[in-house]
Amino acid sequence: MKLLEPLDINGMVLPNRIAVPAMVTRLSGEDGYVNDDIIDRYRRYAEGEVGLIVVEAMAIHGSKSGPLLRISDDSFIPGHRRLAEAVHGASDSKVVPQIIHFMKVARSGWRQKIEDLSAEQIEAIIADFGAAAARAREAGYDGVELHSAHAYTLSSFLSRRNSRKDAFSGKTLEGRLHMFGRVMAEVRRLVGHDFPVGIRFLAEEAIKDGYTVDEARLIALRMAQAGVDYISLSVGGKFEDAQPREGHPLYPYTGYSGDRCMPGNWYPALPHAHLAATIKQFINAKGHDVPVISVGKISDPGDAERLLQDGKADIIGMARQLLADPDWPLKVRQSRQDAIVHCIYCNVCKQLDENFKEVHCFLWPKGARQAPADDPSRPLPVWPDGHGDLTATISDGQIQLAWPKVPGVIGYDVYRATDGEVAEVVEAVKSNKYSDRTVLGGLRYDYFVRPFDASGTAGPPSRQVSVDMPMPEGLATMLEAADA
Ligand SMILES: Cc1cc2nc3c(=O)[nH]c(=O)nc-3n(C[C@H](O)[C@H](O)[C@H](O)COP(=O)(O)O)c2cc1C
Repeated sequence: MKLLEPLDINGMVLPNRIAVPAMVTRLSGEDGYVNDDIIDRYRRYAEGEVGLIVVEAMAIHGSKSGPLLRISDDSFIPGHRRLAEAVHGASDSKVVPQIIHFMKVARSGWRQKIEDLSAEQIEAIIADFGAAAARAREAGYDGVELHSAHAYTLSSFLSRRNSRKDAFSGKTLEGRLHMFGRVMAEVRRLVGHDFPVGIRFLAEEAIKDGYTVDEARLIALRMAQAGVDYISLSVGGKFEDAQPREGHPLYPYTGYSGDRCMPGNWYPALPHAHLAATIKQFINAKGHDVPVISVGKISDPGDAERLLQDGKADIIGMARQLLADPDWPLKVRQSRQDAIVHCIYCNVCKQLDENFKEVHCFLWPKGARQAPADDPSRPLPVWPDGHGDLTATISDGQIQLAWPKVPGVIGYDVYRATDGEVAEVVEAVKSNKYSDRTVLGGLRYDYFVRPFDASGTAGPPSRQVSVDMPMPEGLATMLEAADA
């Protein structure tokens, strides 16, 4: 499998092409120091053999911001060194920190904008990026990633909504790219050319008047020309369309662009893969082979492999899927795909992040702070009645499923095939019932359910049930009347 082939990124050899993009854990205190819980979180990804582990966004400056890691002065280096050593001690995974500068946001609704920054403040931000990148090297990380995505400072310079009028002017693409160029030059000056520097930026801003992939491919080209070692793509996550909440600072993932950033369960799989493909194919055609990380609801190993084989991505990024099951790469390598815990994109992790609470996964056993250990020797869950007597009833435009409880399991994956399509997991539930509210009259639905235990190991499928969903009462008469 191409997915499991190594990849050399400026001397940082990934053991495979699987990456966990940065995901804030809220496991650090407000002091921003690395602690044991943080180390456990990242060691867990290494044990699961994730090729590239990007450590959650960490501040390069002293601005207050709830529980968030920091790399803003040398006192943070020993903690980061322990983290990097823990990852390196667990497997061949490579680990890079994502370094971030953000502007001030107040509970009153006020927020600082890049247009407010003086020339001196901009120079200080550039210097802070350089110093933080140098600390990352000093701490023993394998590289560093510049956070130039979402609602944060570097991204705001790249934005089509940048309205500065100086050398960083939003009037031209070159003006919008100026800050990136300055930061990149400073980072290189301080870390040298033999230290991998990646960047994360938006393939699409997903806001009114925001840029789309047409400009993103040009931005990527400039990044490649400037010598970035990998490009990690994201989408949306902006302040411009964030929903205000009384007494809370604006959170940039609450509007439509937030949905696009962390697409929920109502989005189809791979909603952004075409954007990464466009960007990769464009920069490749211009002679740059900088690896591109594609991200966004990728969880099926077959889909991941196909994106690589079809030249649509160089690395597969999975955030929520690897949070749910950090052993995904190991299970794929061992051909134990059946044991993968499937992310259901319920976004409980996103809500925890938004509320400054420790980020964990809804699918983990209750109270767990880390993903449960993989245990292939554990006996498979079995149906007490031998076959899993799944039943389905139709009521109020929904299909209600029920099945016998399996002792000792933590949940059930509900599989559905719509009108003869391939069956896929539509939901994971903790109780032994499920109501499907997204069914359309006139189509056939086939269901089965699989129980899974704390290590993610799934038992055999229940009996399958098929439901021919009737058209709503009176619809045929209504349509005939409209036709006449
Ligand atoms: C809880 C949580 C925290 C996140 N924190 C970051 C972050 O620190 N930096 C970042 O660039 N993206 C962050 N993201 C976005 C993810 O890296 C990723 O782009 C997004 O979840 C879509 O990928 P997925 O569909 O594989 O989950 C976060 C996402 C979640 C769910």
